[in-house]
Amino acid sequence: MPESKGIAKEKLEQVLIGMIASVRNRGLYPADHPVIRNQVQRLISDFENFFLTRDKVSLAIVEEVLVFEGEPFYQPNIAVREFQRRIEERGVSAVEFYKGLNEEEFTGWIDFLVEDANRVQEKSASVYLREKKIEHIRLRDVREVYNRALDTISDALNEARLGRIPSADKAKEVVKDLSQYIISDRPALLALTLLKSYDNYLFNHSVNVSVLSLSLADALKVPKDDLHNIGLAGLFHDIGKTLTDKAIILKPHNLTPEEWEEMKKHPIKSAELVSKMKGVSELCVRLVYEHHINYDRKGYPELEAGRQIHPYSKIITISDCYDAITTLRPYQKPFPAWEAMKIMESLSGRVIDPVYFREFVRMLGIYPVGSLVRLDTGEVGVVIETHPETPLQPKIKVLFEVSGKRLKEPMEIDLASKEKEATTRNLVAPADPLLYDFDPSGII
Ligand SMILES: [Fe+2]
Ligand SMILES: [Fe+2]
Repeated sequence: MPESKGIAKEKLEQVLIGMIASVRNRGLYPADHPVIRNQVQRLISDFENFFLTRDKVSLAIVEEVLVFEGEPFYQPNIAVREFQRRIEERGVSAVEFYKGLNEEEFTGWIDFLVEDANRVQEKSASVYLREKKIEHIRLRDVREVYNRALDTISDALNEARLGRIPSADKAKEVVKDLSQYIISDRPALLALTLLKSYDNYLFNHSVNVSVLSLSLADALKVPKDDLHNIGLAGLFHDIGKTLTDKAIILKPHNLTPEEWEEMKKHPIKSAELVSKMKGVSELCVRLVYEHHINYDRKGYPELEAGRQIHPYSKIITISDCYDAITTLRPYQKPFPAWEAMKIMESLSGRVIDPVYFREFVRMLGIYPVGSLVRLDTGEVGVVIETHPETPLQPKIKVLFEVSGKRLKEPMEIDLASKEKEATTRNLVAPADPLLYDFDPSGII
């Protein structure tokens, strides 16, 4: 007879209590000490009992509550609370233990829970586990979701290139996960949009437009269902480019009139492809179709007189512009985020909607997450969080001292706070990232 859900949850609670006991002991003993090994072996056999009736044990944090197989831990005991806190601190929102989990992997997992949370976050929890070769424990964290989005769009673009209609199922799933992170950890997700891959421009661009659009849509408080449509439209908006000659895609500045006509067809091609995908709404198709029409309707394709541009299409247009400006292309050097904002300002009222643009600036800040900034002390830091109400006083991580030497231990300062380190420092100007060797995504 299958055990009831309540019993399974109670058993899992015992496992979590044991896990946290091991974590505490791991602070006292080395990994191969009998105390640790015995505990790990016992926990493995507990998991094996679970695996008699299921292939995996999944735990997820849903609206701040730890949930096991749909059953929330409403009044968690101390160990369950500590488990939740430890995974949360490491940027993890879900964990799955798979059948086949072995002692070595589980010892690595205990080490993961003991390891300094900031150090884990620097490379992301999922990368940490991959490097330790832990295969039977999978995590959902912001980088895993972003990478999954990249894989999903790369598969879809390849399918389209082969003349097939890609499935939207995985894309819908990944957009749902991205939108959750937009709500729970927006700075971390936005920081990842700064990762620009020159080789895979279209993959990163598609994911970034999806993330930025979700973020702007959320700031504009659009209903949740619409949010998913907007995210999906962002992901697929340029899929039609796979059907355009690559030579044209790579040199938009010197296009012949014929080539330009060809280029202008990509929103129609994208919309056609998306309309043939199963389970994709009319709204999503429309947003894809309209992403280059522009605020003044002077873009493409031409819209019949009297037909309105959907307000959400303007969200995609803004995100598309911003990501294009901040990305290195064969014909363009990337502009730092603050400079991109100035360029966007000049497009406001023509290409992009001024009201939405104002909200976009509020959302990203004048110095968006990942911007390098100089302080009046001469120090240089990177913006790690923005405050819509005080855009000139973001939270920063100071990375370089006055001499330009990199600090061994970066210093986090919220310029908006009343503390002394904050009140004695002011942000004075953007700093040129080319002068400093750093990868913002690994720092935030
Ligand atoms: Fe486009
Ligand atoms: Fe685009």
